[in-house]
Amino acid sequence: MIKVVNTKKELQEVLLPYREAGKTIGLVPTMGALHEGHASLVRRSVSENDVTVVSDFVNPTQFNDKNDLMNYPRCLQADCSLLEKVGAQFVFAPSVEEMYPEPDTRTFDFTPLDKVMEGPNRPGHFNGVAQIVSKLFYAVEPDRAYFGEKDFQQLAIIREMVRQLDLKVQIVGCPIVREEDGMALSSRNMLLSKAERKLAANISLYLFESRRFARRNTLLATRQWVIDSINACQGLEVEYYEIVDGRTLQPVDNWDASDYIVGCVTVHCGKVRLIDNIKYKE
Ligand code: PAJ
Repeated sequence: MIKVVNTKKELQEVLLPYREAGKTIGLVPTMGALHEGHASLVRRSVSENDVTVVSDFVNPTQFNDKNDLMNYPRCLQADCSLLEKVGAQFVFAPSVEEMYPEPDTRTFDFTPLDKVMEGPNRPGHFNGVAQIVSKLFYAVEPDRAYFGEKDFQQLAIIREMVRQLDLKVQIVGCPIVREEDGMALSSRNMLLSKAERKLAANISLYLFESRRFARRNTLLATRQWVIDSINACQGLEVEYYEIVDGRTLQPVDNWDASDYIVGCVTVHCGKVRLIDNIKYKE
């Protein structure tokens, strides 16, 4: 049976026997409303560690939009049954007061990683992510922690945070899980109407198509082609499409500028903000 733990103190208690026995602990941080994307992270952790903790917490400090926070789907019961199936031992589902007994006033600086893409477009977002993820690392003290490449910039920033804070945890990046039509799985997909969901499949479609386009075209032409193609779908609006160095996240302007090149997109579909990315070179 999977065990739900609500406090840091109880978490320490249930993990102590594992620590004392020298067992490895894997952590999968999530905001719940779990799907196969999350499940893939949990499976990986279960296969690589003796015990897996999944945190299920909608972190208020990373939302720069109150409505987005309010509308974020919450379904702990369904999450627990999925997690039980994939073999996690513990779900850490704290209250907001438990994680923030007092306001977290820490400010992080991940320059230049947080100065591009989601950074300027969602002020305070990555600071909030760093606040909660560091708190989770202190609470769980995992050997490994698992993050999806779906949130490519978040993954890079968490690696940098671990470096800055000199933490022991090993960060494991996991590939994007997609629906059959290519759409990246996301908890936000359930906020889309049926028509919007169908329309949104064009995002990944053009990202994948752009890999072929890129073989015969410059980087800047490829970038523009993706933006124009997605914007040509009525109901989709590109917020940004950046083709960046996969490590520094800084825009590159030609295909030879780096050996690791990733395209990151954010698109508005109705009221829902969707992100996706694709690797051109790795
Ligand atoms: P959340 O959006 O719930 O995502 C939790 C983890 O699942 C993230 O590492 C995310 O990249 C990964 N994930 C989501 N969809 C995925 C997909 N289709 N394929 C692979 N991995 C996927 O990201 C957060 O929560 C929060 O910011 C968090 C890190 C928990 C801090 O609050």
